[in-house]
Amino acid sequence: MATFKPLVFSGMQPTHTLHIGNYLGALTRWVDMQKTHDCIYCVVDMHAITQGLDVWGGPKVLAKSIREVTAAYIAAGVDPKRSIIFNQSQVAEHAELAWVFNCVSRLGWLNRMTQFKEKAGKDREAASVGLYSYPNLMAADILVYRATAVPVGEDQKQHLELTRDIAQKFNNDFAESIAEHGFGDAFFPLPDPLTQGPAPRVMSLRDGAKKMSKSDPSDLSRINLTDDADMIAAKIRKAKTDPEPLPSEAKGLAGRPEAENLVTIYAALADETTEAVLAEFGGGPFSRFKQALGDVAVARLAPIAGEMRRLLADPGHVDAVLAEGAARARAIARPNMDAVKDIVGFIRSA
Ligand code: TRP
Repeated sequence: MATFKPLVFSGMQPTHTLHIGNYLGALTRWVDMQKTHDCIYCVVDMHAITQGLDVWGGPKVLAKSIREVTAAYIAAGVDPKRSIIFNQSQVAEHAELAWVFNCVSRLGWLNRMTQFKEKAGKDREAASVGLYSYPNLMAADILVYRATAVPVGEDQKQHLELTRDIAQKFNNDFAESIAEHGFGDAFFPLPDPLTQGPAPRVMSLRDGAKKMSKSDPSDLSRINLTDDADMIAAKIRKAKTDPEPLPSEAKGLAGRPEAENLVTIYAALADETTEAVLAEFGGGPFSRFKQALGDVAVARLAPIAGEMRRLLADPGHVDAVLAEGAARARAIARPNMDAVKDIVGFIRSA
């Protein structure tokens, strides 16, 4: 079996602003991965336009969101010198490979995607073709770099499985040509999802049964990465709780989703275990715990918001980071795409 150089790829959509769920669940892990891996972190702007204009907000909002997500990556600790940061639409090879994958992927495979069903809603006939073929573009994002590992949340695992199916089918369908062009028995790796590790599920501050979401109409339901210290503290004060004091042991959190969520957030922000948090605050009133939670949240997040504001005050600098990242990304993607063209049998000028 062919071996591939370890390479990490991940991305987030520039729709709405990012919140602490994105930070604790994804960005902190992206930052850690840089210590051990070569990493490519993409702002997937072409995925953002798969839904209605009302969802991504139109041209002015999109440009602003792309810069904001880029600033969030950097402010959270992704180092643009070390890792590659860029927006997807600047590297045309993503779209180019996605077309080939549209012809490898099967209707039956896409019909099984649960995210399409959720996002398309009741009126499936009115969904864009782009929303339907979204997973093929996602496979292209990853495989155009022949990336081997993809940090993603649970909700993206099905897309990763599809990516592996596409890679496998391409490798099989073109096996002879792949060998003839000197790529051995496989051109694409089968990338692994990295879902393990301390990725807490952060829920809405208004409803412990719902995931914290950038699209929740209530801004009080989430702590945005752009919220300043006063806003963070106020949202935690107003977070939904129940009338019981905090339990002293983790099993006492069962059936108390709001309490569990706040303890999870505290543990992640303070880098402590749930048990340690409950040992300190169990038995005491929520007011004392919320005060402490507000303090760690502000200490950890307000500097990120401050750094984002500083970066966004100079959009030219952010754009330059994206341009440089795109050039570095293209330097990897172009030769891979040329190889795909050769393998498929397209004629290209050298
Ligand atoms: N679908 C991902 C999400 O909504 C975003 C995404 C697009 C992505 N392309 C990717 C994630 C490639 C990882 C790798 O969260």
